[in-house]
Amino acid sequence: MIKRITSILLIALVTGISGLRADEGMWIPLLLEKYNHADMQAKGLRLSAEEIFSINQTSLKDAIVIFGGGCTGELISDQGLLITNHHCGYGNIQSHSTLENDYLTNGFWAMSQKEELVNKGLKVTFLVRMEDVTSKVLAKVTDTMSEKERQQTIKTAIDTLTKQAVEGTHYKAIIKPFYYGNEYYMFVNEVFTDVRLVGAPPSAIGKFGGDTDNWMWPRHTGDFSMFRVYADKDNKPAAYSKDNVPYKPKKHFSISMKGIKKGDFTMVYGYPGTTQEYLPSYAVESILNISNPHKINIRENILDIMKADMNADPLVRIQYSSKSARVANAWKKWIGESRGLKRLDAVNKKKAIEKDFEEWFSENADRRKKYSHLMIDFKKNYDELAPYTLAIDYFMEAGYSMELVKIAASFGRLSSVKKETPQADIDKMVAQAQGSANGFFKNYNLPTDRKIFSKVFLDLYYNNVPQEFQPDIFRKIETKFKGDMQKYEEYLYGKTMFTDQEKVNKFLESFSASKAKKLMKDPAFELYMSVVSLYHQKLNKQSRVYKNNIDSLMRTWMSVQREMAEDKILFPDANFTLRIHYGQVDDYEPRDGVHYEPFTTLEGIMEKVNPDIYDYDVPERLNELYKTKDYGQYGVNGKMPVCFIATNHTTGGNSGSPVLDADGNLLGLNFDRNWEGTMSDIMYDPDMCRNITLDIRYALFIVDKLAGASHLIKELDLVYN
Ligand code: ARG
Ligand code: GLU
Repeated sequence: MIKRITSILLIALVTGISGLRADEGMWIPLLLEKYNHADMQAKGLRLSAEEIFSINQTSLKDAIVIFGGGCTGELISDQGLLITNHHCGYGNIQSHSTLENDYLTNGFWAMSQKEELVNKGLKVTFLVRMEDVTSKVLAKVTDTMSEKERQQTIKTAIDTLTKQAVEGTHYKAIIKPFYYGNEYYMFVNEVFTDVRLVGAPPSAIGKFGGDTDNWMWPRHTGDFSMFRVYADKDNKPAAYSKDNVPYKPKKHFSISMKGIKKGDFTMVYGYPGTTQEYLPSYAVESILNISNPHKINIRENILDIMKADMNADPLVRIQYSSKSARVANAWKKWIGESRGLKRLDAVNKKKAIEKDFEEWFSENADRRKKYSHLMIDFKKNYDELAPYTLAIDYFMEAGYSMELVKIAASFGRLSSVKKETPQADIDKMVAQAQGSANGFFKNYNLPTDRKIFSKVFLDLYYNNVPQEFQPDIFRKIETKFKGDMQKYEEYLYGKTMFTDQEKVNKFLESFSASKAKKLMKDPAFELYMSVVSLYHQKLNKQSRVYKNNIDSLMRTWMSVQREMAEDKILFPDANFTLRIHYGQVDDYEPRDGVHYEPFTTLEGIMEKVNPDIYDYDVPERLNELYKTKDYGQYGVNGKMPVCFIATNHTTGGNSGSPVLDADGNLLGLNFDRNWEGTMSDIMYDPDMCRNITLDIRYALFIVDKLAGASHLIKELDLVYN
């Protein structure tokens, strides 16, 4: 272990480039043969590149989808059966849950296709093909163009190309920049919109460990749910109809029942969202010194208030559990990220790269001319941007996220209603606002919200952001309320209608232009207007200049880093396009004297179980199966595998991604990373970064033994050797 660290540090120092290290990277499937396949084979892969991704024939990629808007999912039967994470299906499971049929708590399993539940708005997206369109997108771009002209030219080209690509088909095309606009790829997609809920385990299994264990290893979460994709009679996408039939996918994954051991090859195939591996030191400093500390502090305050109220009142627990999970997820990730970046001495590592760069361009007059200003310009722009970075962080975290601001925002369009606005338009807006209000009040607790507002907006925002970057409502508080925050708070919460469902419903009845005027006078609406106009008229507008400059500098810096890396291939940052990650099952040492094994089992769940701790309760049925060791074909040597870790370099969006063995069989579902490794969005560390996978055998054990849905197991292709 120690030896490995030194050699990697040495390589980094000698080459000065944070170039490719073992297992780092998220690769473009189209380029697999060219760049990765030999390395993957050397590490144990037994498939050809064509079997993984092919332009002409069916390949593994045809079994993978974007699930909803931000997760990955995969097909596991020839009847459109799909598996993804529980936390990815959560919203849909919740939407079917009522007090009488509490699927979230108790789980849900359709015992026949007729019982599967329709999900409004849920879609899955298959990739039909991808193509390098760099030369086409950049055809009319010249070196002398301003950044703005460049953007416009590119946009025009993209519009034309995407339109041409799907003409006469039902496909959708999208073009995305890679390597900060040095390259462009087009993705042609097929989108299915009839996706039904097949099953989900009880939350005590699917969310076992909750926020306590989130981002942590050793982990024991049964994070999966199942859906089915439906198509019309011609196997084409269609809106929901009872006549739709299960979609017959070109490809579905076979499932490995073999298990894995330390050192085994694994690959993840899915949709990583965002990484920033090639930032200059100034950007990493800004994340470490400005953004992360402030965002972490704001969220900590929010979470403390939510937690206290949730503990005191079961209704508040239900109302705020999803909200607090959302707040806690990024909060905890940023804490791990900052720690990891400090541990890696990331800023100085970046500085060392920049120093090498200086030597590199000094060697040669041409380079000197081209690049000697790059770092100076970066520094200048990041310095100029710094106050905006802070201000935008507060706008997002302490302003726009306030509950009253959000609900007022969803009434925004109503404020524009005039006497001459057609009634049909008004009706539409009212229906939308009513929908938002219904959702809002279902999960709104006024005392909790008010405490958060008082602490986060009136205290943190006011005291930590310079006046010129604050919403102007604070000026009103200073003059009209003589700076008395409490008085303003009383006025706001006393006078707004948005804390009272009845008042809001009444307000929406027979809505008219005069009510639009009234809306403008509501103090929460006024607050919302103050917060958003700060952003649109000032923060966004003024920071755009520096951001555009930085975009252009990054494009250059990225291409320089690639050039300096010579024959080492640098992978493009994640941009929510299909990628391949590969690595191996591996343990790690999180701290001095501590060693983590790469596997967990049901024993570990039972060690954690504590009916008094909400996150650590399990259904009685699981207990029984554990006691009788009734694991069926899913257990190994009297134990039930639950999760494992590997060195795959993954990120948010990879949730639900298939984790595959050397033959392309499904080993499990990616659902998280370890806390010590969350800096991998900015800097990967092979000794610390692990992706966390739910072992598919645990999922199938739950389906079969706990839920008794063995008819689903019959649909699967299980591979035993
Ligand atoms: N950390 C995982 C991810 O980023 C899981 C989040 C959901 N789970 C939770 N306990 N909040 O999305
Ligand atoms: N849970 C994350 C997701 O929803 C995956 C964890 C990560 O960031 O790697 O995509």
